[in-house]
Amino acid sequence: MSSPVSEKIDSLRKEINLHNYRYYVLDNPSIPDAEYDRLFRELQALEREHPDLRTPDSPTLRIGSQPLPEFGEIVHKAPMLSLNNAFSEDEVFDFDRRIRERLALDEIEYAVEPKFDGLAISLTYVDGVLKQAATRGDGFRGEDVTLNVRTIGAIPLRLEGNHSGEVEIRGEVLMLKSDFEMLNRAQRDRGEKEFANPRNAAAGSLRQLDSRITAKRRLSFFAYGALFQGMTGTQSGLMKRLQDWHVPVSKERGVVKGVSGLLDYFNAMQQKRKGLPFEIDGVVYKVNSFELQEAMGYVSRAPRFAVAHKFPPEEALTELLGIDAQVGRTGALTPVARLKPVSVGGVIVSNATLHNQDEIDRKDVRIGDTVIVRRAGDVIPEIVGVVLDKRMEGSEPFDLQKKYPVCPICGSHVVKLEGEVQARCTGGLYCSAQRKEAILHFASRRAMDIDGLGEKLVDQLVEKGMVNTPADLYLLEKDVLAGLDRMGEKSAENLLDAIESSKETTFARFIYALGIRHVGESTAKDLAGHFGSMEALQHAGLEDLTAVQDVGPVVAQSIIDFFAERHNIEVIDALLSRGISWPESGQSERTGLSGKTFVLTGTLSAFSREEARSKIESLGGKVAGSVSAKTDFVVTGENPGSKYEKALALGLKVLNEGEFIELVSAVQSQESK
Ligand code: IVH
Repeated sequence: MSSPVSEKIDSLRKEINLHNYRYYVLDNPSIPDAEYDRLFRELQALEREHPDLRTPDSPTLRIGSQPLPEFGEIVHKAPMLSLNNAFSEDEVFDFDRRIRERLALDEIEYAVEPKFDGLAISLTYVDGVLKQAATRGDGFRGEDVTLNVRTIGAIPLRLEGNHSGEVEIRGEVLMLKSDFEMLNRAQRDRGEKEFANPRNAAAGSLRQLDSRITAKRRLSFFAYGALFQGMTGTQSGLMKRLQDWHVPVSKERGVVKGVSGLLDYFNAMQQKRKGLPFEIDGVVYKVNSFELQEAMGYVSRAPRFAVAHKFPPEEALTELLGIDAQVGRTGALTPVARLKPVSVGGVIVSNATLHNQDEIDRKDVRIGDTVIVRRAGDVIPEIVGVVLDKRMEGSEPFDLQKKYPVCPICGSHVVKLEGEVQARCTGGLYCSAQRKEAILHFASRRAMDIDGLGEKLVDQLVEKGMVNTPADLYLLEKDVLAGLDRMGEKSAENLLDAIESSKETTFARFIYALGIRHVGESTAKDLAGHFGSMEALQHAGLEDLTAVQDVGPVVAQSIIDFFAERHNIEVIDALLSRGISWPESGQSERTGLSGKTFVLTGTLSAFSREEARSKIESLGGKVAGSVSAKTDFVVTGENPGSKYEKALALGLKVLNEGEFIELVSAVQSQESK
């Protein structure tokens, strides 16, 4: 029903939306801030007086709301894929040649775009109104970050123009370089941890359970794609359309023809890179026509019609001041280069990894040398090599074990075993560095998932002797915790809650959390599935263990060694007696694929073998290497092998890729209920 008030509210919303768009998207406001604030307050007042006229797409509802206990899960309608990379001109030539050959065309038209260095997000609009926002997650399911995304000024709560039905817009959330600098300055002033780069800052800000915090961080967004019924035409046409809907798209995009067009764009963007307001780590080339995109199709988990051409890593010269050792969870001593601070592509670097002694020998790195430091994206900076011309006379080769005959942390002997590249401290859990790492690993997200137990806190807990083994975590008390640095009542309570809820876990997570050498997440899952109980796993011999998928003699021996240590058994017993538990095997799988064995054959197009495997396993199923009467499903991709024939001969259930995806989606949505 339209009334004078509802009309007024409507026109205020339109006006405010337009100013938001001019401010956040066009970067060209047309009214002073004070005038904007006045309009905003007028709308707020009217909505307060007329609560019945409030709607979720009102610009007043961008300020964040109460913290969530956790993020909900969203199953993506179509998987969020990744892009293949090209690192050289040759690879770009190959990319273009494959497309020309496959499509039998002489020249291809490409849409070219920056590769934004942020995090992928999917936005769902229904009848033009923002309904849902999800992170990429594992590509199949992401986290529901709707409340957080609503606080991002550049993302429209309602699309401009008339819309009916559903549109999914995909793009990248990022933080502008200037906003990143500002945020870090504020973090510094408050004595809080600074973010390493704008991408981490964007990810940390978006993945806040308290959307009021997200609202305070300035995040930006650029769209690079969309999905809706009847999407035809070209990528460049789509970008134009998104722009008309007031969705931010980068103005650095273009349309070019052939390899020369691609490389010209690459070079131009490389020149421009430093001056751009946001970080990019390369450019993306996409066949412009959707029809031709369709014809090219997908391979594994990436489209054949697009590629990311990455910028080369950034390098700088500096002086190597010294080499120290860092002791990791397994006692490995990793040599760390201490450098005269130098800016590498805008980031100050003062440490770099040297990996191990072999690496030091191979590169003949010596203290006092002038070295080339490289930084690529998020990875730890590394030393590429030495400028020999600048080597000082009298320098000597560096020997890590000579410098560290004993562990710098605990004083235990350092040994280097035959055939191993890493020197190791023999202190085990006597070594506080290993203790800290073991506890951090135990608490990590994919292990016991104890939120809030970060490095600083573990340092204190271990140094004060409050926590010596993971089992001690379950005895912590609020008063003691609250008295630690940077902790208060509230954070102590939150941590205790997180510790408490970690008690309910799965057998696979628990095995992984123990930090047994060579036992990663996937091996932990295999072991859990195979043995079903701690009792059985503890007493397994070499033969029992090597019967498990992907467990070879080295892994098996490391598991046996682990359980042969009395203190490890004591820690496990203590953990169990303090209430850690998991559903018994069989019932653990409320999951729909529990007990089902799959065999994969042929090339899948929407994801890699590994992804398909981890998908099946995450839903409780198993993947076997060969077909037998015990196989429940045989999934066939392109060019299936003899397993397919065998499956037919045995009368097994055979699924093509589409049917497999349907099965997985059905089980997932059943589970997310
Ligand atoms: S298109 C089918 N375009 O890069 C894949 N992605 O490596 C659709 N990204 O997850 C992606 N800028 O988060 C596309 N202009 C751009 C991009 C872009 C950044 C990210 C995106 C994606 C990742 C793939």
